[in-house]
Amino acid sequence: MRILLGVSAGIAAYKAALLLRLLTEAGHDVRVVPTRASLEFVGRATWEALSGNPVTTEVFDDVPAVEHVTLGKRADLVIVAPATADLLARAAAGRCDDLLTAALLTVRCPVLLAPAMHTEMWQHPATVANVATLRARGVHVLDPDSGRLTGADTGPGRLPEPATIAAAALALVGATLAGGTLPAAGAADPAARDLAGRHVVVSAGGTREPLDPVRFLGNRSTGRQGVALARAARDRGADVTLVAANLEVGAPDGVEVVTVETTAELRTAVRDAARDADVVVMAAAVADFRPARVAGGKIKKTGGAPAPLELTLNPDVLAELAGDRLRAGQVVVGFAAETGTDAEVLDDGRAKARRKGADLLVLNRVGAGVGFAVEDNAVTLLDAGGDVVGRAAGTKDAVAHAVWDAVLGRLEPLRG
Ligand code: CTP
Repeated sequence: MRILLGVSAGIAAYKAALLLRLLTEAGHDVRVVPTRASLEFVGRATWEALSGNPVTTEVFDDVPAVEHVTLGKRADLVIVAPATADLLARAAAGRCDDLLTAALLTVRCPVLLAPAMHTEMWQHPATVANVATLRARGVHVLDPDSGRLTGADTGPGRLPEPATIAAAALALVGATLAGGTLPAAGAADPAARDLAGRHVVVSAGGTREPLDPVRFLGNRSTGRQGVALARAARDRGADVTLVAANLEVGAPDGVEVVTVETTAELRTAVRDAARDADVVVMAAAVADFRPARVAGGKIKKTGGAPAPLELTLNPDVLAELAGDRLRAGQVVVGFAAETGTDAEVLDDGRAKARRKGADLLVLNRVGAGVGFAVEDNAVTLLDAGGDVVGRAAGTKDAVAHAVWDAVLGRLEPLRG
């Protein structure tokens, strides 16, 4: 595949060298187009040596080749990493004052921008508006990671890891870093805004059930898969409500977030949002049981044997949603993480699909240690009868797009 890798002037430009390495080692032909100022961080020789291709920054460097047009037209995929606040502003305004921004105006393939900047710049209303403009045009803008920035400051603004950027970009064209394609059900174009006009609800994270004011029963869910689903739906044009239960990762920008703690709170929030939703995806790990009584004060050691913990059953939110639809035509999706051999996982998944009655059940074999570092998830999609209707493998973002592809085929056409 022919990939155009743009690099703008941020300290994270060095990470783009690692990204370039991943892409070339996966067999892709990469043309690097740095901005003039980015050469202060990583020089032309590095890009030429690692890509094996000539590197230019200006529209006037090779006029007979009309590079600003041919580069864009030749590309199957464009990645800009890091994308600085200035690059986002110039891209949003449609400026073309160097080779990279000129090429961005001529491309017709999927474009992924990976921003990196100080938190204040990322959160400035000008940058927020530029990102919204670019996303509305179908450009994929990754949310930056949170963490240590250039100086002593920390916060959202870090460039995501090269493998994450590569996987997210390749997923836009249905490819993986390992060189495979995603056998996603439906295989719709994830760059399309094919969920525009739809309201989707995604639950993510894990619920916690209090024992007393300081202790709870909980689970290890981080919320990454649910957050990836919310982000993918947003990128595909949906209005997204994310019901967030104790997330360990940041919620994506541009989605409505309802924060919950317990299963009862999650149930209320999901059902409220689901009343006018086209799709509900239950990606949260929902506690099946809660303590029968919550102590008003901290439970103390009394010296003797501790009292046994009495539990009571929580409602099954997914089964309720599937059994008694809050809106006609609503598509309900559940998740199941199972252990055992492939055959046992499939048998358990089939039984769960029939029991829950969701339109789709995303079955995940846990503890399988699925291959390559970024290939961190492999799922099987089952319908309400327990039949296999698709499989997908890849990052949580890639799996999220595969789920939305499968949902699309089940949505009733938009009215009006
Ligand atoms: N779920 C739910 N409400 C619950 C429990 C689970 O809505 N009280 C949803 C989860 O969000 C997920 C699906 O049901 O989409 C499957 O969750 P899982 O824990 O695998 O199912 P359980 O019914 O709890 O089955 P198991 O006996 O395997 O724990």
